[in-house]
Amino acid sequence: MANERIVSGAAREEDRGSEGGLRPRRLAEYIGQERVKETLTISMDAAIQRGEPLDHVLLYGPPGLGKTTLATIISAEMGANLRTTAGPAIERPGDMASLLTQLKPGDVLFIDEIHRLSKLVEEILYPAMEDYSLSWVMGKGLQAQSINLKVEPFTLVGATTRYSMLSAPLRDRFGSVYRLDFYDEAAMQAIVRRSARIMELETDEGGVEEVAKRARGTPRVANRLLRRVRDFAQVRADGRVTRDVASQALGLMEVDALGLDEVDHRLVRMIAEKYGGGPVGLDTLAASTGEEADTIMDVYEPYLMQLGFLNRTPRGRMLTRAAYEHLGLTPPPRLAVGQPQLWDSTGQ
Ligand SMILES: Nc1ncnc2c1ncn2[C@@H]1O[C@H](COP(=O)(O)OP(=O)(O)OP(=O)(O)O)[C@@H](O)[C@H]1O
Ligand SMILES: [Mg+2]
Repeated sequence: MANERIVSGAAREEDRGSEGGLRPRRLAEYIGQERVKETLTISMDAAIQRGEPLDHVLLYGPPGLGKTTLATIISAEMGANLRTTAGPAIERPGDMASLLTQLKPGDVLFIDEIHRLSKLVEEILYPAMEDYSLSWVMGKGLQAQSINLKVEPFTLVGATTRYSMLSAPLRDRFGSVYRLDFYDEAAMQAIVRRSARIMELETDEGGVEEVAKRARGTPRVANRLLRRVRDFAQVRADGRVTRDVASQALGLMEVDALGLDEVDHRLVRMIAEKYGGGPVGLDTLAASTGEEADTIMDVYEPYLMQLGFLNRTPRGRMLTRAAYEHLGLTPPPRLAVGQPQLWDSTGQ
C-alpha cells in the first residue's frame, strides 16, 4: 500500500514539474479515448442545457492514462471550480463532511485514489451523492449528537486504478463510469507529436513513431521517454529526434521495442525460469523480484496483459507463449504451438 502512494505521489510530482505544460486543458486537446469523450460530451452538454451539475463520474484505468487530466477538463468544460483531494488524505468522517459543506453550487470535487477512502468516510459520501444531504453522528455516548446538513449540488469525480476495490454501494452511486484503455498507435503518435511541439523539439515521423511505439500505450510514459530522448538528441546528435536517435536513446534506457523495461524483463524471466511459466501468486512474485505487489499489479501487469504476455488466473499469474518468444526463451511443452490456452485474461 505504501508504495502505491509513492508511485502516484511521484507521478503527481512529475505532473507538477515539466509535465505541467503538456497536460491538455480542454477536451478538444485530449487525444484518443474517443468513446469516453463522446459520451462525456453528451452528458456535459445535456447537464449544461438543463442548468444542472453533471452527474457523478468515476474514471478508472492504469496509471498515467489521463484520469487526473480528464477530471480537470470536466471542471473546465462545465465552467466549474475544481476541488481536488485524495482518498488517503481524508482520514475522518468529519473531514469529509467539512469538505462537502464547503462546496459551492456546481463545484467539481475530484477524489483521486477513491478506493482508499475508509468505510466510515465513504458512508458520509453516500447521501451527499444521492440527495445532497449529510448526516453523521458526532461524539460518543450521551454526548453523541446527530447532525444533518444540506450540501450544494455538486459533481463528484472519482479516479482509481483499482475498480475492483471500490465497494458496491459507492460504485452504484456514480451516474457514469468510464474505463480508460491503453492508447492505440495512432493516438500515441498524436500525443508524442503534440508534446514535441509544446517542447519545441524537432522530430521526424520516424522519431515520433519510435517513441510512440515504446511508450506502453501510456501518455505519461510517452512524455517521459520524449524528455530523455530530447536530452540524448541534444548531447549526442544535432538535437533532432529521428528514428535512429530515438532508438539509440531508448536502447540506452533499456526500453525494448515493445516498451518493456528492465523490471518487466525481470518479472517475465522470473516467472519463466523460476516458476516454469506459472501459475505463481502475486505475493510470491513480489517477494522474489523485490518489487511491491501493488506496483506489480497496477503498473507492470496491465501492460503485460494488454500485450497478451501474461494472464491472471485463479491459481496465479501465467505466462503465454508470446512472452517467451519476445524474450527469446524456450516455452514449456504445454505452450507449444497447437496446444489450447487454458485461461483467458479476465480473472483478477
Ligand atoms: N488524452 C491525452 N492526450 C494528451 N496527453 C495526455 C492525455 N492523457 C494524459 N496525457 C498526459 O499524460 C500525463 C499523465 O496523465 P494523468 O496524470 O491524467 O494520468 P492519471 O490517469 O491520472 O495517472 P495516475 O493513475 O498515476 O494518477 C498528463 O500530464 C498529460 O500530459
Ligand atoms: Mg492521476
